[in-house]
Order: sequence, then C-alpha cells, then structure tokens
Amino acid sequence: MVSEKRETDQPMKTIIYYFTGTGNTLAVARELAQELGNTRLIPLRQAIYFGGYTPEADAIGIAFPVHFLTMPDIVRTFVSNILFTGDPFIFGLATCGERPGGALFRLQELMEEKRYSLSAGYAIMMPENFIGPLNLMNDAGHREEKFAAMKKRIPEIADCIRNKKVSVPEGTNSGLWKWGGEVSKKLSTEVYNTPAKFHATAACNRCHACQRICPTRNITVTKDGVRWGSDCTQCYACIHWCPSEAIEIGSRTQGKMRYHHPDVTLGDMQEQRGE
Ligand SMILES: Cc1cc2nc3c(=O)[nH]c(=O)nc-3n(C[C@H](O)[C@H](O)[C@H](O)COP(=O)(O)O)c2cc1C
Repeated sequence: MVSEKRETDQPMKTIIYYFTGTGNTLAVARELAQELGNTRLIPLRQAIYFGGYTPEADAIGIAFPVHFLTMPDIVRTFVSNILFTGDPFIFGLATCGERPGGALFRLQELMEEKRYSLSAGYAIMMPENFIGPLNLMNDAGHREEKFAAMKKRIPEIADCIRNKKVSVPEGTNSGLWKWGGEVSKKLSTEVYNTPAKFHATAACNRCHACQRICPTRNITVTKDGVRWGSDCTQCYACIHWCPSEAIEIGSRTQGKMRYHHPDVTLGDMQEQRGE
C-alpha cells in the first residue's frame, strides 16, 4: 500500500497527547512524531484542565505508560474530559515493561462510552520503571535491546497511521488479566498504601526537582521537608528523577536502581507539568 506521506508533499496532521513518568512514553511519542512529520506533541496533563475540544487533526494519538495492566488514572481523567473535533483516526500508544495487559482495551472501552472509536492501539516495550518488591528493573543491555526494537517498529506504526489502518488493540483482553491488574493496583494502592509511603531521606538537599516535575502537582518542598498530597498517580517520576536519589517508597526501594530515559530531561518533565 502506498502511504499518504509518499503520495503528497504535505504529511497528514497529527496530534499526540502524552503522559510520562520517566520519559519512555515521551521518547516513543517523539520518535513517532519525527517519522510522521507535521505532528504536535501536547502534554495531556495540560489539556485536562483546559477541557473542551481537541484541535482539528487527521490523526490523534493518546500515549501513556501501562500501570497495573491498565491506564494510569490521569489518562482516564484526560480521556473522560476531552472531545474530538471532526473525525480523526484515534490511536493509543502504550509503553510498558513487558506486559501491556488490557490497557489499550480499557482505552477502547472508555472511547466507546463517549461514542468514539479507537482505531488502533500499539504497545511498545520500554525499560521497566516499577520499583517493586520484585526487582524488575532492566540492566543496560536489556534497555538497549528495547530501545533498538522500538526504533525498528516505529516506521511500521507510522505507516499504519498514515494509511488509517484499523486494527484490534495490542495486548490481551482476557478477564484474568483484567482481574490481575485490578488486584495488583488494589494491593499497591490500598493494602501496601504506596502513595502514603513516599518520603525524602536525609540525602534530600531541597533542590525542588520533585516539586517542579510532579505531573499532578502533588509535592511541596519547604525548608522543613518534602510533603506528598493525596493526588498521586503513581508514575514514580519523583523517585526516579531525584538527583540525590533521596526519595524512597517505604523501605522497598532502598538500594534499588533509578532510571529515566536518557534523551528526556528534567526540563521536559517540567514542561509536561506546566506552570
Ligand atoms: C506503578 C507502575 C505500574 C506498572 N505496571 C506495569 C504493568 O502492569 N505492565 C508492564 O509491562 N509495565 C508496567 N510498568 C512499567 C511501565 O509501564 C514502563 O516502564 C513504561 O515504559 C514507563 O513509561 P514512562 O517512562 O513514560 O512513565 C509499571 C510502572 C509503574 C510505575
């Protein structure tokens, strides 16, 4: 099939709304934007509070990391509040460590509730950023393999978007995976109480990086210490971006490696949060 890019001089107009904790999703969205051309990247965090309609575009992407085999709450809030202008090709772009589960199917359901259709959903494996009881973090070799596989796959995804190829979302929609995601989220959020266990250690030098990048503006740094509010979306940005590695979740993160995508900066994270 001849792609639209090669048929005309002007590439189709695309908008990708993104959310990222450690930069993986932004890096993938950038790669896709470069491949597609004429693509605008918008932090969905900023779009949530404006509400209303998306600008006119031929294709609209919603890019996010998989959390507990589903979408992060912040993405759900965004999708619930946005309205699409015209009849764009709407696609999901989910990054995950190993298992996308039903994340893109949940996005599809949410779209259908709003009487839109999700035309495609692509899942891309990227370095793990969940520091949990089990050590899932990838070593340098594994990270490089994932970056290379992602770069190889992007042109194929771009072609599908240009040709508006409708497909079933990637991942698995079985009840067992849905249940597994809900259980693990409940365990993390309500039983282990992760959001309440974030704290800064004596290594904190009050540089304010965590406050400046937290996408939900849930962190306040004062001379007395760092305080987390009640609106944590569990993206783990604060823990991974802290330059002093001074942020821990209870004791389970002690001594475990931190990660953020090498091409994404604290400035990019600050831009996502907006002022
Ligand atoms: C709280 C949490 C839950 C996660 N759950 C999953 C999961 O269910 N499946 C998976 O493959 N990766 C999971 N991950 C890993 C991320 O999806 C993955 O590292 C992603 O690329 C991070 O993207 P980001 O840097 O844009 O935030 C999880 C990460 C976090 C922080």
